[in-house]
Amino acid sequence: PAPGWAIAADVVVVGSGVAGLTAALRCEAAGLRTVVVTKARLDDGSTRWAQGGVAAALGEGDTPQQHLDDTLVAGVGLCDAEAVRILVTEGPDAVRRLIATGAHFDESTEGGLALTREGGHHRRRIAHAGGDATGAEISRALVEAVRARGLRTIENALVLDLLTDADGRTAGVTLHVMGEGQHDGVGAVHAPAVVLATGGMGQVFSATTNPSVSTGDGVALALRAGAEVSDLEFVQFHPTVLFLGPDAEGQQPLVSEAVRGEGAHLVDADGVRFMLGQHELAELAPRDIVAKAITRRMQERGADHMYLDARHFGADMWEHRFPTILAACRAHGIDPVTEPVPVAPAAHYASGGVRTDAHGRTTVPGLYACGEVACTGVHGANRLASNSLLEGLVYAERIAADIAAGRVDARVPAPLAHPEHPEHPLLPPEARLTIQRIMTEGAGVLRSADSLTRAADRLHGLHAEAREALHEHGKTSEPGVDTWEATNLLCVARVLVAAAARREETRGCHWREDHAERDDTTWRRHIVVRLNPDRT
Ligand code: SIN
Repeated sequence: PAPGWAIAADVVVVGSGVAGLTAALRCEAAGLRTVVVTKARLDDGSTRWAQGGVAAALGEGDTPQQHLDDTLVAGVGLCDAEAVRILVTEGPDAVRRLIATGAHFDESTEGGLALTREGGHHRRRIAHAGGDATGAEISRALVEAVRARGLRTIENALVLDLLTDADGRTAGVTLHVMGEGQHDGVGAVHAPAVVLATGGMGQVFSATTNPSVSTGDGVALALRAGAEVSDLEFVQFHPTVLFLGPDAEGQQPLVSEAVRGEGAHLVDADGVRFMLGQHELAELAPRDIVAKAITRRMQERGADHMYLDARHFGADMWEHRFPTILAACRAHGIDPVTEPVPVAPAAHYASGGVRTDAHGRTTVPGLYACGEVACTGVHGANRLASNSLLEGLVYAERIAADIAAGRVDARVPAPLAHPEHPEHPLLPPEARLTIQRIMTEGAGVLRSADSLTRAADRLHGLHAEAREALHEHGKTSEPGVDTWEATNLLCVARVLVAAAARREETRGCHWREDHAERDDTTWRRHIVVRLNPDRT
């Protein structure tokens, strides 16, 4: 549908997690007219669910170089070393600025920041808040700052498409807004700079730590707009997600790596610590190694979960250091003080996304991306724990600096009409569940050519059905959040499966049963995808 209303701005930020709100605050501070649009409420994204913390070389004896080394090892040969250097050198000050914005981090008894460890870190360098509620505190502080500064925000606004001018430059976005009064229905924000900060795509799988809003909207929009997307096959499965049964679907409670960072053990049903001897860091090996070890042990034992044993923490430590996790476990009838916690891997983080340079610029002029939706090159084949909040902060600040420095043409270009997508027909809402099951069966922790081919065929079938309904019967699903989310999920799922099928090796969090080894000769490179706008 054509936009029914339009407003103009210098910058429109899409998404309201740590990356989006940091970008918005910095743009506004630079005097740019900034509008934040977000699909649900301002604090409904993934940020507020982050537990462990923010990694940065803030501790005595730690250095950006050591943080860089750990990040490169975790990324298994595919990190962009310059992007990581920027992350680790600018990271400590970005955290200090976040604190100056109002976020309260936990302090040690000596008075400095309390720092913990997580998988792949050789040092204590994870700053945390509220024990295990780091994201909630960051979200609170940023939302308060946005409100205090009077930034223009539009909530319940699902971004549909990028508007471009005749030269292919960014001209704004179209939105579908529900129940926000003045800006209801389909409208547009015209702006020469658009910052995508829409978060991840965990909902493409059945069980995920991501909230229901993480449906790959930014990657799908960028693909439709002709931007390049990279590394989508590298989906990180968090090793320790509370196991609520084999059929559990949707968002699942996370059991932070910080629990292992403070000394919890991974054990099987007989109490055997199976990470010993697998890696010098045992339970604190990089995330992909732990997720694989758990999956292997589950296969060997014919089990659908393993256990995290932290009974030795005692009630006091559980209550003070991990109150969120303790409450989640108890809500499901498990008491970590007296029993081991059942855990299994679940989809957690998209290491790939919309490809950007060191200033967050995508391949479409005026379109930027930061946070989980972006692929800046810092994560490679496997993100190091707690580097994501940091990446959101650092690269959001760099984007704001780039826009403020006038690198985008400040004239608001006249947009072309709202793009029509005959090749992306809207899917019915119930397709979401089907996509999640197809992806979990075919493109989950363990993949093979066969499983991926089956997944690709079934996804293609869903697309073909929707196309046929549109072209042959003139029918499409009613536009709305559910239909757009299902449509976006299908778009990212198809590209993810194609990339995973193409990468015939095992590297980082991409695990191929039929290509069990890493292949540095052929595959020390990225899979970059750009959709031809005339085809799917
Ligand atoms: C966690 O707390 O384990 C999550 C940290 C992360 O995903 O970086």
